[in-house]
Amino acid sequence: MMVRQLTLAASVALVALAVWPGVVSTTSAVGEENRASSNPLSGNQDAEEAGKTAYRANCALCHGMRADGRGRGLPNSADLRKFKRGYSKFVQAVKEGYKRMPAWGGMGALTDEQIAQIGAYLETLARRNANWADPSDSSELEFEFEKGVILATTRSAEPAEPMEYQVHLGHILTSWNDTPGEVGLATILQKEATIAREHAEYAVTDLEDLANIQLHTRHVRHAVDPVAERSGVGPGMGYGIARAAVGVIRHMEFARDAADASASARLHAEHVITSARNIQFWAGKILDKAGQVTGGASPVASAFYAEEIVERIDWILNGRDADSDGTITWEDGEGGLAQVMEHLSYIE
Ligand code: HEC
Repeated sequence: MMVRQLTLAASVALVALAVWPGVVSTTSAVGEENRASSNPLSGNQDAEEAGKTAYRANCALCHGMRADGRGRGLPNSADLRKFKRGYSKFVQAVKEGYKRMPAWGGMGALTDEQIAQIGAYLETLARRNANWADPSDSSELEFEFEKGVILATTRSAEPAEPMEYQVHLGHILTSWNDTPGEVGLATILQKEATIAREHAEYAVTDLEDLANIQLHTRHVRHAVDPVAERSGVGPGMGYGIARAAVGVIRHMEFARDAADASASARLHAEHVITSARNIQFWAGKILDKAGQVTGGASPVASAFYAEEIVERIDWILNGRDADSDGTITWEDGEGGLAQVMEHLSYIE
């Protein structure tokens, strides 16, 4: 059997990709405190200056002059302002390459000192959630998985039980026993929301056809909460966005509260939970509006509510730029499923 071994960070990211095909949006406020860096040259001004020059010569081609990942080289190069896997992983990525990035970015070897200088420079650009500290436990967590399903977790030294917080994370990302097909809670949420969006769009194809608006709004209601759709029939998996969102919140709370929860699990749990609560709230609003549509007799009013439903499903999937600042964060009123997935992928 072909079993691939990956570190936790990489496997969580992969599982996240497997369930979430969309593009995640970015958050970019500076300010939250980062843990101390493990880079020996961190904060050294001469090193930062030298690093800036070396960065521009060796990395900016792909990662961009501002390290935001928007260079002219390979598309979708990482946004290094948000690098968060700790200094040792940074050194390793540069020396050995990382996924699509060749060793040294294909630009020729650098000395350890030059790598440390580049790291020190990048820290001056770091955004909230960036992390240059190595995990205190240096033994590597390894996951064995196949087709995105985690088969076993080991610490490189001795085989161990999976950590408790990872078990709860697995219920969100990989598998949970009360969902159809026992898929993860985030997966069912994404499926139901995609189905709801499809039917919400059918409802607004002809804004003068009240029967059509009402029929498809019932279908949306079924995907949001099958219990609320009293006819008991409709598209979707029969689980519902609302219940899946509650499940994500609960299991994220379990992971956060586990005695062995990592620092990143505790931090990002709050972000995941806040975004999932937004989803829960918007799902409730959709049910209210669906009630207006199916109970109403005026095509004009029904069409109005049906269009609001389309908008809220978009928020559920992609989040909402509530404060119109051009970015969608995990925060109250902003984060949706894309932000849930983004912050799950940060948990190591
Ligand atoms: C030829 C283009 C190219 C060059 C040059 C390049 N990189 Fe990259 N780098 C990438 C791409 C593309 C990725 C994303 C890999 C992926 O996700 O498949 C990446 C990823 C990384 C990562 C991992 C990011 C993460 O979040 O874990 C680090 C660290 C990194 N690059 C550092 C550097 C540094 C430092 C330099 C200069 C010494 C450099 N890169 C030069 C293309 C490049």
